[in-house]
Amino acid sequence: IPESFVLSGGDLMPRIGFGTWQASDDVLEPAVAAALGAGYRHFDSARAYENEAALGRALNRWINNDPKKRKELFVVTKLPPGGNRPDLVAEYFNASMSDLGLDYLDLYLLHTPFAFEHVPGDLHPMNPDGTIRADLTTDLIGVWKALLKLKESGRVRHVGVSNVNEEQLQRLCAVEKPACLQVEVHLLCQQRALIAAANKLGIPVVAYSPLGSKALADALAAKTGREYPDLLQLPAVLKIAKTHGKTPAQVLLRHLLQSGVAAIPKSTNPERIKQNISVWDFKLSDEEMSELRALDRGQEGRICDFSFFKGIEKHPEFPFKKS
Ligand code: A2P
Repeated sequence: IPESFVLSGGDLMPRIGFGTWQASDDVLEPAVAAALGAGYRHFDSARAYENEAALGRALNRWINNDPKKRKELFVVTKLPPGGNRPDLVAEYFNASMSDLGLDYLDLYLLHTPFAFEHVPGDLHPMNPDGTIRADLTTDLIGVWKALLKLKESGRVRHVGVSNVNEEQLQRLCAVEKPACLQVEVHLLCQQRALIAAANKLGIPVVAYSPLGSKALADALAAKTGREYPDLLQLPAVLKIAKTHGKTPAQVLLRHLLQSGVAAIPKSTNPERIKQNISVWDFKLSDEEMSELRALDRGQEGRICDFSFFKGIEKHPEFPFKKS
């Protein structure tokens, strides 16, 4: 497996990136420094994570005004759902760039196909009854065209999408192919049909929540009573980890790499940060891959179903329709 995807123009997107969701500023800065030291060059952020400034500070300390070092990095952030209107895209992009403190961005993603109302200073506006203030008028293609237009400024090298379904991906491709598709992919939600469709279109896939995002799963479990199995404790994963002398997390990441996708594990612990990028010196056998493939629960295995945005499933572009 190559260590990076090659994007248009020859740009390299490393297949192991560093995830930053749910990392507070004070822990994120040292974690990014540790990740840079461990060899990570791909960093994934989002306006909605409210940590772009902390990530930017840590990256800029490492870049140290050297354009050659900036070029080694692959930095990603995302347009928040409140910015999903053609006339707002440039404004939200500029805000992200100013917080990151970078001259250019490597990849800008549409975070979600659905939209919230644009409320300055409030990225998750709510109604008094606790439902999210969704903007039901979203012109997904119009927003995509506005993202593509950002490339003309030279301040973003690639644009792509996240959290879209196959039908939406096809519609976007009719305008222009996204440079990347970032979706939830892990052992219990293997997304084989969507990945096959993206591969056919020539779009690299990046897996978020590759280790099962325990913090999110725990929060949702507390709210809904649903059970989320711990991916790192699954008997098959423990057994395979033992066989190779690797950790369960390394087995989960290796399974994703061998499934043809990139992954952006998040950790704030220096040892685990190192562990998660040390996945290039072993290989799962065909039998092990089949054993892991059988654990797929399809859409039932999804953790990030956006149920925490109450009422969002009514949006016409909500990507996960219940069948
Ligand atoms: P921590 O930050 O304390 O390491 P995901 O990337 O799927 O969102 O999962 C992130 C969660 O997995 C975090 O709770 C993180 O905790 C934990 N984690 C990250 N790397 C490892 C690892 N190598 N072993 C065990 N847990 C890990």
